[in-house]
Amino acid sequence: MRVLVSGGAGYVGAVSVDALVAAGHDVVVLDDLSTGHWAAVPDGVRLETASFGDEAAVGDILALARIDAILHCGARSLVGESVRDPSLYYRSNVVGGIALLEAARKAGVGRIVFSSTAAVYGIPDSTPIDEDARLRPINTYGESKRTFEAAMAAYGSAYGLRSVSLRYFNVAGATEWLGEDHDPETHLIPNILRAAAGEGEPLTLFGEDYPTPDGTCIRDYIHVADLADAHLLALEATAPDDDRTAEPLVCNLGNGGGFSVRQVLEAAASVVGRPIPHTVGPRRAGDPPILVAAAARAGSVLGWRPQRPTLEEMIGSAWEWRQRHPTGYPD
Ligand code: UFG
Repeated sequence: MRVLVSGGAGYVGAVSVDALVAAGHDVVVLDDLSTGHWAAVPDGVRLETASFGDEAAVGDILALARIDAILHCGARSLVGESVRDPSLYYRSNVVGGIALLEAARKAGVGRIVFSSTAAVYGIPDSTPIDEDARLRPINTYGESKRTFEAAMAAYGSAYGLRSVSLRYFNVAGATEWLGEDHDPETHLIPNILRAAAGEGEPLTLFGEDYPTPDGTCIRDYIHVADLADAHLLALEATAPDDDRTAEPLVCNLGNGGGFSVRQVLEAAASVVGRPIPHTVGPRRAGDPPILVAAAARAGSVLGWRPQRPTLEEMIGSAWEWRQRHPTGYPD
């Protein structure tokens, strides 16, 4: 398959590019490098430095590279920023996303796999959350992803687009070469590892008065390499004769089990061999107490089985990557 990966120089995108190449697919990376890293693009893979919202540029790339399918990982993805400055998120994730869909429609590319998020659910009525739960995002990031899912469904009914939306829960971990390098970094595990390395302030634990057994938020962590495996399976499911995407397919991606922030801190302490310096602060606005996936559909429909389900594998791989890349990627 010839696959265009938007956001292919970012954390999730780059690991997926690597997996696609390893599986023998031809890949073109589309990334404007606003948050991605050129050094995360494997040697021999073409990097097109443009925005997925540049319809003309994307159209040319799709036609010249004779792309079969798109893996759309590119997005703005900071929850707090989306609340402070929603315009950025509507413009990029929604308006830019529609430009990508238009370029695909005009170029006759009818297959897309989309990086969606648990943030589309907002604060769920019950847990674990299945894909049929009501979508009530509580921030513009989640709203922008929900809107794009709906746009893909409309393009499906009207123009025959085949789509899979993969709703990621909490992505973590690294491969040998590729890891997490965000600026600013807001995610728990890289912030824990920064504190463990003695860089900057101790970790701030955001709230321990939640209605959970130890008072801290519970999340469903999923290894980034397992996510990449799901992307490959989802791309295959968009083949024109595949019944699984006759209607838009939506799958949660998580392990189906939750860990509290304190449990993650304990697991990290055991990986690095010493306690993690931390302080307890107030709650962070917009954090739901518990987010755990009902993740059976990705197994039954796509045949996906997470291979690296333990916190030790996720934190351990992220710690090893950090030690090999103490300052992150070179750019
Ligand atoms: N946390 C801390 N200290 C930190 C960072 C995080 O205590 O320095 C806590 C958070 O409050 C939360 C948990 O660790 O309880 C996990 O936080 P992350 O920021 O790592 O992840 P989120 O659950 O907030 O975010 C994830 C995805 C988002 C998605 C969101 C849906 O990364 O893309 O779930 O709510 F939008």
